[in-house]
Amino acid sequence: MRAPNFVTTILCLGLSWTAAADTIAVIGTGGVGSALGPHFAAAGHTVIYGSRTPDDLDVQTLVTLTGNGASATSQSAAAADADIVLLAIPWAPAQTIVKGLGNLDDKIIIDPINALAFGADKSIALAATPSAAEMIQDWAPRAHVVKAFNTLTRAYMVDAASAGGSITIPLAGNSAIAKDRVATLVSSIGLEPLDVGMLSNARAVEAMGQLYVAQGYQGRQRFEFHLRSR
Ligand SMILES: NC(=O)c1ccc[n+]([C@@H]2O[C@H](COP(=O)([O-])OP(=O)(O)OC[C@H]3O[C@@H](n4cnc5c(N)ncnc54)[C@H](OP(=O)(O)O)[C@@H]3O)[C@@H](O)[C@H]2O)c1
Repeated sequence: MRAPNFVTTILCLGLSWTAAADTIAVIGTGGVGSALGPHFAAAGHTVIYGSRTPDDLDVQTLVTLTGNGASATSQSAAAADADIVLLAIPWAPAQTIVKGLGNLDDKIIIDPINALAFGADKSIALAATPSAAEMIQDWAPRAHVVKAFNTLTRAYMVDAASAGGSITIPLAGNSAIAKDRVATLVSSIGLEPLDVGMLSNARAVEAMGQLYVAQGYQGRQRFEFHLRSR
C-alpha cells in the first residue's frame, strides 16, 4: 500500500487538522459513482472515473462537475493510476470487471455493492456467498478490501445534511491500515466512519441493504436508510 500522495491542511475557525489526499479510481459513473466522486474531489482528492464510455457527454459532464483535476478513462487505466479503487458497479458484472482491472496488489478496494438476487415470487436473497466483499477479496487476494457505503441510499450520499444529523459508515475489512485510510476518506467528506471489524462482518452489513431493498420491492413502507452511531 502506497502512502497518500500529498497532504492537505485545512484551516477552520482557528482549528487545523491534516487530511491525506488520495487518488481514487471511481469505477462506474452511475448513481453511486456520480454521488461520491464530486464529494471526494471537493475534499481535495483526485478522482479518476473508470468508465466503459469515458468520452461520452454524460461522463465528461460529470468530470467537469467533479473538478479538482478529475478525469475519465477506461476502468483498468483508472485503477492503475489510483491507490484506492471504489467499485461503484452492479454485482452481476463485478467479477469480470475486477479481474479486468489489472494488478490490484496493495491497493485498497472499497466495496459498496449490495449483491441481491430477485426471485420471480418477489423474494430477495443475498446473491454473494459468503459476501460480496469476501468474494472480491478472493478475486484480488493481494488487495485490501473494505466494505463501505452500502448502508445508505444515494440521496444521503448526495446530501448528507438531509439526514438531520451525522451519518455513520460501517467499515469491515481485514487490514487495519486500509480501514484507517478509508476512515480518513469517509471523514474527509463529512461522514462518520465506524470500524465494524473483520471482512467477514460484511455479511451482516450487506444484509442491511437487503432488508432496505426488500421493503420497497415487496411493496411495504420504506424506511430511512443510513446508520448513526451517536
Ligand atoms: N444507488 C444506491 O442508492 C446505492 C446505495 C448503496 C449501494 N449501492 C450499490 O452500489 C453499486 C452501484 O450502484 P449504482 O446505483 O451506482 O448503480 P448504477 O446507477 O446502475 O451504476 C453502475 C455503473 O457501473 C458501470 N458499469 C460497468 N459495467 C457495467 C455493466 N455491465 N452493466 C451496468 N453498469 C456497468 C456503469 O458506469 P459506466 O457506464 O461509466 O461504465 C454504471 O453507470 C451497486 O452494486 C449497488 O448495489 C447503491
